[in-house]
Amino acid sequence: MKCLNFAYLVLASALTSVVKSEFIYSCTESKTIAMTFDDGPHKYTKDLVDYFVDKHPDVKVTFFHVGRFHYPFAIDVPEYQEAMKKAHDNGLQIASHTFEHKISNDTEEFKESLDTMDEFIANVTGDKPRYFRAPKGHCDEKCQKSLDEWDYRLIQWDSDTNDWNLEKSGSVEQRIEDSIEFLKEVFAEEKDSYLILMHDSQNYTVSDIAPWIVEKSGMKEKGYRFVTVAECLGDKQGMYRSGKTYGDAVSSVISGNDTVIESNRTVEISTGDVQQNLESGAIISSKPMTILFSVCFGLLAALLL
Ligand SMILES: *[C@@H]1O[C@H](CO)[C@@H](O)[C@H](O)[C@H]1NC(C)=O
Ligand SMILES: *[C@@H]1O[C@H](CO)[C@@H](O)[C@H](O)[C@H]1NC(C)=O
Ligand SMILES: *[C@@H]1O[C@H](CO)[C@@H](O)[C@H](O)[C@H]1NC(C)=O
Ligand SMILES: *[C@@H]1O[C@H](CO)[C@@H](O)[C@H](O)[C@H]1NC(C)=O
Ligand SMILES: *[C@@H]1O[C@H](CO)[C@@H](O)[C@H](O)[C@H]1NC(C)=O
Ligand SMILES: [Zn+2]
Repeated sequence: MKCLNFAYLVLASALTSVVKSEFIYSCTESKTIAMTFDDGPHKYTKDLVDYFVDKHPDVKVTFFHVGRFHYPFAIDVPEYQEAMKKAHDNGLQIASHTFEHKISNDTEEFKESLDTMDEFIANVTGDKPRYFRAPKGHCDEKCQKSLDEWDYRLIQWDSDTNDWNLEKSGSVEQRIEDSIEFLKEVFAEEKDSYLILMHDSQNYTVSDIAPWIVEKSGMKEKGYRFVTVAECLGDKQGMYRSGKTYGDAVSSVISGNDTVIESNRTVEISTGDVQQNLESGAIISSKPMTILFSVCFGLLAALLL
């Protein structure tokens, strides 16, 4: 028995130490399109939020917001924050893109930046985000490990409009055309889903590219739904730490009860025998997936020994 316990510990600690947040590039729910907008809230965010909420309430999107990046800073401008709040209250997803659009290689500084951004979002909306996108999509192994430890979901994209890259196109008109050409090509493939990168810090993305996707791409007619990143991953209730969802009365009620059921399920998993064995050792992990992996490998080891 001692030997088995030891095997569990060795295997589980090896596993725990390699666990990191994996990049999520694509949606998992069929026929979904997740439009994402980075680097706001800024000058044009209000127009974009008004466009979705007031004119296309069936369209849900996700914002990866910053606090202090483009001047004037979001943290200082109440109108930008009102847009953020309106988006949140109407079921659009607010996620983190760090506070200052950078990731420090110092873990403590990185954590501080995430905490400050979460606090800013919570001050404005009442909720803390669980979804995160790294600036420029750069997050090394150490950064991924930290994000796993702090329980963030690390979101990339599978369709890049390159909307920010004015220089490459030469003019605003050409940029709009290039982004829409790209989208026409990928939409023609009728993939199972799309996770699209855009920037609400660009006026033409707000005035032209996003409305083209909603009204002219023909994707809605083909049966695609425009949803938040959390929903396109089947995790609508996981978008905030609170488990609450907004903007859709039916699913808010369901989510309240589901959260309870989910937390009971977690408790069941973590009170298994193997978990007790683990707890007698040095490993303290409350993460159900980590525990599940450990359990599986522990059992495997038990069979082999
Ligand atoms: C962070 O990177 C800089 C150079 O890029 C380096 O000098 C410094 O030692 C690094 N700090 C840590 C904590 O890794
Ligand atoms: C959040 O609100 C509190 C209380 O008003 C304030 O002290 C704090 O600085 C705010 N934090 C951020 C990041 O906005
Ligand atoms: C965006 O703003 C620029 C100036 O900052 C302007 O030249 C351009 O016409 C605007 N584009 C759209 C589509 O509104
Ligand atoms: C949960 O379910 C109970 C009854 O099953 C119901 O009374 C309650 O309104 C539901 N919603 C929430 C958010 O608790
Ligand atoms: C969850 O567990 C608590 C206490 O263990 C219990 O009171 C509650 O009814 C359970 N909820 C559900 C939905 O099973
Ligand atoms: Zn960015």
